[in-house]
Amino acid sequence: MTSKIWRWINERIPLKIMLQVGLDEKIPGGASFFYTLGSATLFVFALQVVTGIWQLFYYVPTVDHAYNSLNYLRIFVPYGWLIHGLHYWGANAMVVLVALHMIRVFVWGAYKKPREITWLIGVFLLFLVIGMSFTGAALPWDERGYWAAEVGTSIAGTIPLIGSFLESLLRSGNFMGQLTLSRFFILHTAIIPGIAMIIIAAHLTAFRNFGSVGPWSNEKRKTSGAVLSGQTKLP
Ligand code: HEM
Repeated sequence: MTSKIWRWINERIPLKIMLQVGLDEKIPGGASFFYTLGSATLFVFALQVVTGIWQLFYYVPTVDHAYNSLNYLRIFVPYGWLIHGLHYWGANAMVVLVALHMIRVFVWGAYKKPREITWLIGVFLLFLVIGMSFTGAALPWDERGYWAAEVGTSIAGTIPLIGSFLESLLRSGNFMGQLTLSRFFILHTAIIPGIAMIIIAAHLTAFRNFGSVGPWSNEKRKTSGAVLSGQTKLP
């Protein structure tokens, strides 16, 4: 029965071929768990988007109601604890995964020619991930969130020349208040993830140009120019 449905679908949409193209691919040097770190980061990013949108149905971004609205989600909404927990631990996991991914590409020299742009875009992504963690931590507007935002914006204020401008831009004035929370909210839910999606697309495009680099030392030299000049299939 299942195979009949599968065949029926495949006669209309070439799902099997699409899956093969997407999933079956020879990786130079063979498969390795180390290659999964970037994809794992991407998966957690997608999870954060889904669970984040879910939370938006309940979260109230005001200083009076932020904390209570999250408590309501956690305690009274069916599976709210799960959605909130996934988002909370997903945020922690993302920082760890990004760090591991960065260490792995550094150790195997993926920052070197011709992958400099992939690396630089990655550095930008690292800042975005830190920005997402920082702005997200403030959103419950409890003691921890409030002081995280207070201390973070004060540190931003110590940057030479632009510090005080940055601090008042983030806080919307000299003091912490509703407008600070509103700014953190819009940064966390729209601006930073929106930019991150575009930058991740650029990161993956740059990555696909050269493919993975690994412990096989000559592979990098062999594939890099050839891929660009179209002499070989994309790795
Ligand atoms: C949101 C954060 C990030 C996501 C979703 C992401 C995603 C990915 C993916 C899916 C790959 C291909 C698979 C792999 O090699 O693991 C990759 C490759 C790469 N990433 Fe990232 N990445 C992120 C952050 C970073 C950071 C912070 C750096 C370094 C500063 C970085 C540098 C690289 C480099 C150099 C490659 C190419 C590796 C190679 O050619 O073997 N990425 N990234």
